[in-house]
Amino acid sequence: MFEIKDYSSIYDSIMQFNKNKTVSIHQWYPFVEGYSKEFIESILDELNYTPENVLEPFSGSGTTALELQFKNINCTSFEVSPFMHLLSSVKLYNNYNSEVFNSVLNSFKEILSSLPNKVRKIRNIENIPFGRTVVKSGNLKKWNFNDEALDGILDIKYTISFIDDEAYKNLFRIVLASILLEVSNLFRNGKCLSYKKNWETRKTYKRKEVHNLFLSKIENIIKNDIAILEGILKDTKVDNYSRLHFGDVRTNILNVTDNSVDLIITSPPYLNSRDYTDIYMLELKVLDLINNYDELNQLRRNTLRSHVQVKYEELSVLNVPTLKAYFNKIAKKELALWNNDLFNMIKGYFLDMNHLFEQFRRVMQPEKFIYFNVANSAYFGEEIKVDEIISEIAILQGFELVEIRKARNLKSSSQQSGSIKSLRESVIIFKS
Ligand SMILES: C[S@@+](CC[C@H](N)C(=O)[O-])C[C@H]1O[C@@H](n2cnc3c(N)ncnc32)[C@H](O)[C@@H]1O
Repeated sequence: MFEIKDYSSIYDSIMQFNKNKTVSIHQWYPFVEGYSKEFIESILDELNYTPENVLEPFSGSGTTALELQFKNINCTSFEVSPFMHLLSSVKLYNNYNSEVFNSVLNSFKEILSSLPNKVRKIRNIENIPFGRTVVKSGNLKKWNFNDEALDGILDIKYTISFIDDEAYKNLFRIVLASILLEVSNLFRNGKCLSYKKNWETRKTYKRKEVHNLFLSKIENIIKNDIAILEGILKDTKVDNYSRLHFGDVRTNILNVTDNSVDLIITSPPYLNSRDYTDIYMLELKVLDLINNYDELNQLRRNTLRSHVQVKYEELSVLNVPTLKAYFNKIAKKELALWNNDLFNMIKGYFLDMNHLFEQFRRVMQPEKFIYFNVANSAYFGEEIKVDEIISEIAILQGFELVEIRKARNLKSSSQQSGSIKSLRESVIIFKS
């Protein structure tokens, strides 16, 4: 049994990305599964030392490394999704210049406005992204984009291809990514993408309206932020852009030097069967980051085992008391259908955690801290106290548990959760 400290009055709002939505640079892409920059600030405020080398194993939209870069603190980060990696790298890039930006934007506007208006002509030069349901065809009952919206997107993609400087090219690609959901027939519905209400009949974006939405984001948000960033970067001495690494942290962490890290701040994927590959499918496809099913499967294999999109051989249960107790409770239940994939996901998740904490132990200097943001789960009508299980894992790996802080209650959405209506989201603090 662990004592849980109620920190909801402090953490309730700062553990959500929402607060970042109007903050320069952080706001470039509205990321749902992230926390706010205030969370990073609150950690730095309460530490009794100034960290010099932070580790962020799950970069996501790059909140940790970006905020630390602004504070002149080194941060090594890892990200497996090519989309989140691109997003983090665009935000961390530290050599933007307003003059160059404005000249790129001017030629961009010139090319975009000179494209022939002829319906679907753009499809002769710009490929339709990979996937069966991108646009209406054959007997399809549902499709992601209406024809005009897709043509508008392809026009923008084609125009972006004329930008020579990779940094600005990638920045424009992220802006395109940030409007995709809006101009599509889909919305993000927790675990997956769903079709908007009345998507077939509701007014959708015309080709020029897609261009205008894109340009208004560039003119009204990015342009301003580039000018602000240029000012900030003059005083920035650290380079977290080149400390961001693409790929599976479970293997890449092996390259981090022993005893080199003095703070870890992170939020891994939660044990909620949410597959980021699915949720960010539009961005992955339209930006050509996923081009076939093999690439898609490989990406899913490389992600932490928190979803059931990949089948694994029968895994063993990690030997920690709270996890064992969960499986014992489940074993007593008369389950009509034993879903082996779900069992394996739960087992795999904690095996991955165990591996990561073993590595955290190796790379961390003594007497330093880990801030670990995670949420509990429920499957087969029983709560899985993820925060407590991770605490047991960390203790076994030699960490001291400082505190489990309750951040807020999350609504439990899974059909698997039975009568459990809310699940604790926590911040766990460990000391090496
Ligand atoms: C909860 S998000 C992190 C959000 C981040 N704190 C922020 O504020 O933007 C978790 C991230 O972990 C990434 N991820 C999942 N499995 C991974 C792996 N094996 N290696 C590296 N990153 C992984 C996901 O793609 C996702 O971007």
